[in-house]
Amino acid sequence: MAGIYYGDYLQLDKMLNAQDLESAKHGKAAHDEMLFIITHQAYELWFKQIAFELHSIIEIFQSGKVENKRMGQAIHRLERIKEIQRVLIQQIDVIETITPLDFLEFRDLLVPASGFQSIQFKQIEIQLGLKRHYRINADREFFHSRLTEADLTFLNDLEERPSLLELSDRWLDQMPFLDFEGFEFWKAYGKAVEKMLASDRKIIESNPTLTDREKEYQINDMNQTKVRFGSVLDESKFNKLREEGQFRFSHQAFLATLFVNLYRDEPILYSPFRFLTLLADVDELFTNWRQRHATMVQRMLGTKIGTGGSSGHDYLSETTRQNRVFIDLLKLSTFLIPREDLPVLPGGLKRELGFYFGGELEPRAGDYY
Ligand code: HEM
Repeated sequence: MAGIYYGDYLQLDKMLNAQDLESAKHGKAAHDEMLFIITHQAYELWFKQIAFELHSIIEIFQSGKVENKRMGQAIHRLERIKEIQRVLIQQIDVIETITPLDFLEFRDLLVPASGFQSIQFKQIEIQLGLKRHYRINADREFFHSRLTEADLTFLNDLEERPSLLELSDRWLDQMPFLDFEGFEFWKAYGKAVEKMLASDRKIIESNPTLTDREKEYQINDMNQTKVRFGSVLDESKFNKLREEGQFRFSHQAFLATLFVNLYRDEPILYSPFRFLTLLADVDELFTNWRQRHATMVQRMLGTKIGTGGSSGHDYLSETTRQNRVFIDLLKLSTFLIPREDLPVLPGGLKRELGFYFGGELEPRAGDYY
């Protein structure tokens, strides 16, 4: 037949002949092993697409200054990743149609293979920023003992390259601000925070439904918020918390993130805001997947260990809690203040931001717009 042929284009001869049931090799094909293999293969195809998109986003950020147009591409690709992640979470419903009893018909034949050895999953984690020093101990250990030399070399090389976490940190760190034309933004912001907290204190003190004990408790809570605000505004305190692992972004990058979120209504900051929100979304959806997978594993295995030798559900719950990437973005809301209390930005500062995020604004003399 002339021209390109559907099956050849998609290489279906390879793809549709790549389901070899282990149970069949052992003399008794387990019906559900077909679904087990196909689901994993479908996952691996989607992982490939995610890794491909992440690679292109990393390239955009590696190229130095991120033009508006390229920022749009990065945003669009992160949105695509989010949609794929939703499919990945939904696919767990399909594998859950395998009952624990049916799984037992072929489970032991899979030892010591495990989803833990999914190199593409690890690749995605590393591309996002989950490098070795951020992993939980058991995960770090398995990394060395459960993978082939070739896979280990591939992942180790990847660790040497910049991740999306590191590149977004660098990009935010270079944002031009915020002591511009005598306008010290963070001082003004600090005052606005004090005003907000003083008003919160009044609300607590005058609340007739609270007992004295409850008031004391809430004011104590509020004072802690005040201390947290203080540590974010003070570079040396922030760096101490960063050394303890509470933040990953540099001080300047964290402030830039906060700034983008506070002033996201400024048209020029909308794309950076979208981008940062999408990073948090992607991180959250991975956590949701981990959570769903861990719950499914608990149903399937109870407290049995995994085929890869981990404690099973306990190990997976721990990676769900700890293996997050963009932890700074999760902490942000603590430091947001109401719009009406935000300091007004000088026009010069806005223009500077305009040049940084695409250079589209024309400079105008000393105006506030
Ligand atoms: C019957 C279904 C499944 C069971 C019982 C199961 C069980 C497990 C267990 C126990 C682990 C921990 C490592 C170990 O000791 O083996 C694990 C890890 C993993 N599984 Fe599954 N799994 C199932 C389906 C899937 C599917 C469909 C995928 C999709 C690719 C998947 C991907 C992974 C990944 C990526 C890890 C590593 C997670 C990490 O280290 O944080 N699993 N699985």
